[in-house]
Amino acid sequence: MSSRLKHITKLAFQQSACTVVDCGCDHGKVLYWLLKENSDCRAIAIDKSSQSLEKARKLLECFGNRVAFFCADGLTCLGNNTYNLLIISGIGGYNIVDILTVSKAKFDRIILSPHRDIDLVKRWLTVNNYVITTDIRIECRGKEYTILESKDK
Ligand SMILES: C[S@@+](CC[C@H](N)C(=O)[O-])C[C@H]1O[C@@H](n2cnc3c(N)ncnc32)[C@H](O)[C@@H]1O
Repeated sequence: MSSRLKHITKLAFQQSACTVVDCGCDHGKVLYWLLKENSDCRAIAIDKSSQSLEKARKLLECFGNRVAFFCADGLTCLGNNTYNLLIISGIGGYNIVDILTVSKAKFDRIILSPHRDIDLVKRWLTVNNYVITTDIRIECRGKEYTILESKDK
């Protein structure tokens, strides 16, 4: 796993029972480690690409019904429920803000790693009642990435 994904996984990890949503999960590696390290963790893997979701399904099938899979654009497949944690990483800031804006689901904690338009994402979090608790820049394979953690106020 790359140091970028390791940072995200470390921030996302929590000991207690939780449900983690990874939107744009692709390979599913972050969810793999979270499910492996915490047997009380459940996950929802979402990707709009069926090919990407298939990669996640292969990697995560060992966790049985602890994981649900949705081939979907954004978070609208979740309805208006509340979840412990949302992760969106590796996509652009405009796309992230679009996904968050139309979502009816709520999240106690959100971890975002936009490839670009980081200020736009920070503004969305602040305006929508989230407090940014972690804002780090990390280097991975010669590139810099921002990782933001935020909590519902
Ligand atoms: C570059 S990969 C990043 C994968 C992983 N999250 C990471 O950080 O390594 C981006 C993934 O997000 C998915 N994606 C992009 N926009 C999406 C959307 N609106 N809804 C669901 N998935 C999306 C793509 O299909 C792709 O699999």
